[in-house]
Amino acid sequence: MNILAIVGSLRKKSYNMQLARTMQERYRGKFNMDIADLGSLPFFNEDEENNPPQAVKDFKEAIASADGVFFITPEYNWSIPGVLKNALDWTSRVDKVFINKPVMVLGVTPGMLGTVRAQMHLREILSSSGVQAKILPPGGNEILINFAPQKFDEQTGRMVDENTLNFLDDKVNKFIAFIK
Ligand SMILES: Cc1cc2nc3c(=O)[nH]c(=O)nc-3n(C[C@H](O)[C@H](O)[C@H](O)COP(=O)(O)O)c2cc1C
Repeated sequence: MNILAIVGSLRKKSYNMQLARTMQERYRGKFNMDIADLGSLPFFNEDEENNPPQAVKDFKEAIASADGVFFITPEYNWSIPGVLKNALDWTSRVDKVFINKPVMVLGVTPGMLGTVRAQMHLREILSSSGVQAKILPPGGNEILINFAPQKFDEQTGRMVDENTLNFLDDKVNKFIAFIK
């Protein structure tokens, strides 16, 4: 099984990227996971949508060939980061690669609310006519990881909180069943 992770933060020490790396290692026996490079995508331009830059073609191909996609994103100003919205705008046109693609939403924040507002916005976007992803239903499956500095190891850059990891194992198993 092939999973693509799309991470909404470009910064080197991103907690959301650290979560992606943690999952890549932890679930190696369950699936192969690639992490998309959102930083390589140019700004969306409708003039270019029919023949987009190579980075966009590669990104769309990675989504099309994945069995499922994880969105792992911080919250910026009560919504999703612009880099993530930009990426989604590319995918929503011409070959609409997210239609019926199983996706799961996760987010990490140092604050208290665990990216809840960003995830609500993201679910709306994922339901729009150009995207129409098949989202793991939210009831009980919201992965809102708060107080990040207490849950990640500063040295290794990995998530180490056992309760959160156990919770994550359960949600990942549900997502695999959802894909099948
Ligand atoms: C532009 C900007 C806006 C932010 N807005 C929010 C916000 O609305 N809610 C929140 O919980 N944290 C907010 N934060 C704090 C982020 O949650 C925090 O920087 C987080 O570590 C970013 O994720 P990362 O570690 O993966 O880069 C914001 C940070 C930035 C840089």
